[in-house]
Amino acid sequence: MKNQPIGMFDSGIGGMTVFQEVKEELKNEKILYLGDTLNFPYGGKSRESIQALTKKGLEFCYQKGAKILVIACGTATSQALEEIKKSMPVPVIGIIEPTIDYIQEKKDLKKIGVIATAGSIRSQGWQKALKKARPDLEIKTNACPLLAPMAEEGWIKNEVARLTIQEYLKDMHDIDALILGCTHYPLFEELIQEELGKEIELINTGKLVAKKLKEILKRTDSFNEEKVDFKKQYQIFVTDQEPNLDRMTNLILKNEKMKDQIQLVRI
Ligand code: DGL
Repeated sequence: MKNQPIGMFDSGIGGMTVFQEVKEELKNEKILYLGDTLNFPYGGKSRESIQALTKKGLEFCYQKGAKILVIACGTATSQALEEIKKSMPVPVIGIIEPTIDYIQEKKDLKKIGVIATAGSIRSQGWQKALKKARPDLEIKTNACPLLAPMAEEGWIKNEVARLTIQEYLKDMHDIDALILGCTHYPLFEELIQEELGKEIELINTGKLVAKKLKEILKRTDSFNEEKVDFKKQYQIFVTDQEPNLDRMTNLILKNEKMKDQIQLVRI
């Protein structure tokens, strides 16, 4: 059990921002990542489609031996997690719960902004979870449907990205912290921080997911402490080849060798 991989799923390569944080926090864990690049983006799809695609993706990871499953996608977390976790034989976590735990502890945060895909915002997943945990919070949300496709295109630092961010964040200048509610958004962290200024905290859900995973693995005695050979440690599957894949993988995972770990799979 201990040396089985952590299974991770996203609609594309954005979830690799979570992969990167988990890889840093849990140095001896094997990680198996599946990016459903064939069906990307999920942001505008119906709840039914997102649930069906997410189920298929998580089942693939489970069949490959995952001891725990992470939905490294805000859209799939907000619309599919509750339904799917009932039918999976191993624990499933998403990006919302670890973030809520963090905000529950940080009582000095009074006004929170959430940016996410249109699907996530429409589902009210973030809003409901935040209100339930902290009824005192003032919450501002904004759907940013252009950002995830721009990230997959590699447009994360250019002028188009800067202006798009400026427009999406124009009502977010009076908050205490901003939740990056889509796993693609940490790629824009630099531009977002520039736009909002240093006083506003940016919450990268991947870091919180990594901490939560560590806690669960330790608690359930499934934490791996033995060193694993790099080639066996990381496996990245994508359901379609996309032109920016290698470049984005290098950009997010900052490791040239990682691109040899990518395989195309039909699920
Ligand atoms: N990474 C997904 C999320 O966190 C991406 C968006 C999409 O597929 O539209 O929401």
